[in-house]
Amino acid sequence: MTETDEIPAEDPADAAHDEAQDWVLIVDFGSQVTQLIARRVREAGVYSEIVPFDKSEAALGPMRPRAIILSGGPASVHEMGTPQAPQALFTAGVPVLGICYGEQAMVAALGGQVEPAHDREFGRAELQVIDETPLFDGVFEEGERAQVWMSHGDRVTKLPPGFRAVGISTGAPFAAIADDSRKLYGLQFHPEVVHTPKGAALLANFVREVAGCDGDWSMTQFREAEVARIREQVGDEGRVVCGLSGGVDSAVAALLIHEAIGDQLTCIFVDHGLLRQGEAKEVVDLFRGHYNIPLVHVDASERFLRALDGISDPEGKRKIIGRLFVEVFEEESERLEDAEFLAQGTLYPDVIESVSATGGPSVTIKSHHNVGGLPETMKLKLIEPLRMLFKDEVRELGRELGLPEAFVGRHPFPGPGLAIRIPGEITEEKLAILRKADAIYLEEIRKAGLYDKIWQAFAVLLPVRTVGVMGDARTYDYVCALRAVTSTDGMTADYYDFSHAFLGHAARRIINEVRGINRVVYDITSKPPGTIEWE
Ligand code: XMP
Repeated sequence: MTETDEIPAEDPADAAHDEAQDWVLIVDFGSQVTQLIARRVREAGVYSEIVPFDKSEAALGPMRPRAIILSGGPASVHEMGTPQAPQALFTAGVPVLGICYGEQAMVAALGGQVEPAHDREFGRAELQVIDETPLFDGVFEEGERAQVWMSHGDRVTKLPPGFRAVGISTGAPFAAIADDSRKLYGLQFHPEVVHTPKGAALLANFVREVAGCDGDWSMTQFREAEVARIREQVGDEGRVVCGLSGGVDSAVAALLIHEAIGDQLTCIFVDHGLLRQGEAKEVVDLFRGHYNIPLVHVDASERFLRALDGISDPEGKRKIIGRLFVEVFEEESERLEDAEFLAQGTLYPDVIESVSATGGPSVTIKSHHNVGGLPETMKLKLIEPLRMLFKDEVRELGRELGLPEAFVGRHPFPGPGLAIRIPGEITEEKLAILRKADAIYLEEIRKAGLYDKIWQAFAVLLPVRTVGVMGDARTYDYVCALRAVTSTDGMTADYYDFSHAFLGHAARRIINEVRGINRVVYDITSKPPGTIEWE
């Protein structure tokens, strides 16, 4: 391995700026849904980046954004020490849209007034459109009453000079405000959430028509630009190693890099023996067979199982798997003598600097994303071609690159794999039982046409044995729990409402076909208070 100084990963705020492309700056004041604003803007074909409010002025930089959107946030503008919107945002000469707290911060910064409201509004509300403005063109008409989503305790009570109200609601006399000459706009409601049905159209109109962005950002364009960037970074000689996990992100990263530099890429697939039925073979067939990408397949399952022997604590399992994964990966990449770059499938939500709502660190429920995260001590230069993309965009890029739909549309699978779906100690026997049950369950879900309606579905093998009767014999076997949830981001989830007929059928098949299981239960816990995985 060539020992080179690690080059710090690219600053997210710089990434878009090497091409003269339109982009929108999203200033984060700590709202839970700031990322949705960025996604809606990108869906309108305009690149966007999220920057915390206290770094927003610096982000204006030499490559100016074509528009600025101020997010919502949990604070109260009129209290001391709450986040302020820098004046530079309003004098940058580009359109600004303030949403909720963002509207209030704009009003406060420009000489208006914000006060605690008597009628706080949370949830569904009605916007009454009282005047025309370019912000509403093609979206809302004067006199229209539209459903919007509100979530505010404070409200604007006096407008800054130059502004007028263009929309009102029961609790907010200034639910939508406009200063058309300076192209400054404010909305008390949240256009980025689905509960504001015309919200996406409103944001698209703002970035495309009001700000005049081209709307030509797409995965096709991203692919071309990124391939060129990777070629330039790696050159004709550089050798890149990329860890494959079996998941979509690392697969898409590998394909993109392969398109850029061909056989200068070697993939390393550390098989920890905790994958689902047939999964390891699928990865090898796809990459080595179908794409002809140099692939080192390391079967390290025995080593992992040995290390996990007798370990039943969930965090203990995660730590062991994470550490071993790194060890094995390092050993293998050191064998590739001239490896200079390390590719990772890091995504945008992992790199966005978040504004903490409470100011304090959040509590670690589980040490997620611990597998596949490789240490900085590796002294390899990092290539993270997906670091500016959201998960949906990675899937779209995967389709662009020809990844089979069955691979692209896969449910998420945790790095520690089946180890966290076998509460308690893991044995080879238990893994084999779980694999069979899980495969039957997923097969039935696919057959019923439900796979794409579900965020994640899997079987769990409980460390509990119960008595049963099969034929004339008594059985004393394991309990299998089935889990299926709907979700949009894995942060919250609800159980999937299967028909009893479906559950009965899947359970019967599992009990009949999988030796070692004699009882099946269905988990109807939502998140919160539960989590998606059992460990
Ligand atoms: P929970 O169980 O916390 O899961 O509701 C939320 C999402 O994260 C996945 N998950 C993990 N992913 N390493 C991972 O890479 C982990 O240790 C881990 N634990 C949970 C889980 O599958 C779900 O998609």
